[in-house]
Amino acid sequence: MKKVTTHIKHFQYFYPYTVAVVGAKSESRLNYMSAAWHTALSFNPPLFGVLISKKRMTHQVISEAREFTVNFIDYDRVNLSARMGRISGHERDKVVEFQVQLARAKFIRSPILVEAYTAFECKLADIRAYGDHDLFVGAVLAVHTEDKSFRSDGVLNTRKVRPLLYLGSDFYVTIDSDSLKHVLPE
Ligand SMILES: Cc1cc2nc3c(=O)[nH]c(=O)nc-3n(C[C@H](O)[C@H](O)[C@H](O)COP(=O)(O)O)c2cc1C
Repeated sequence: MKKVTTHIKHFQYFYPYTVAVVGAKSESRLNYMSAAWHTALSFNPPLFGVLISKKRMTHQVISEAREFTVNFIDYDRVNLSARMGRISGHERDKVVEFQVQLARAKFIRSPILVEAYTAFECKLADIRAYGDHDLFVGAVLAVHTEDKSFRSDGVLNTRKVRPLLYLGSDFYVTIDSDSLKHVLPE
């Protein structure tokens, strides 16, 4: 028998989700946080969404900057996710304290993370409230990729990158590259 819950406090049963480190540089602050709740929204135009609670410093910084970057990191960098996702910029300057290595973006002022195997530069297109999170929609202006991290068809090279996957409650995992299958319909 499956258990049915109707008093829903969390529903992380569908995880894992890849971890994105999301942030921006406004007039007053440079700040990033870990985000598991993110999604592509459209190919054409390219739109990417991130759900951010109003409590987050990142909410404030992106709202001010009207732009943000989305940075995907390897499983090796799990400590960065834990730091960015459990410490708030309201209390500490995470970029300085954890010596986060930054690189200039092409079109926006907000930097990307040097160690990201892919990073998106986004111009804020919309903010919409959904319950206790706000959906920040970014028009993707540029996508940075490391050559070695992707095959020529754009598929992640799982021999080179171990994507960081979040299971909730501070648990992380990655993929087994031996499980890779290329399957076409019969
Ligand atoms: C792996 C992970 C994923 C997270 N995903 C989200 C998310 O999608 N949206 C959100 O609002 N908070 C998320 N959080 C919580 C924020 O990252 C956390 O509250 C962070 O300290 C906020 O930092 P800030 O106040 O500097 O913005 C996540 C935390 C972790 C550890």
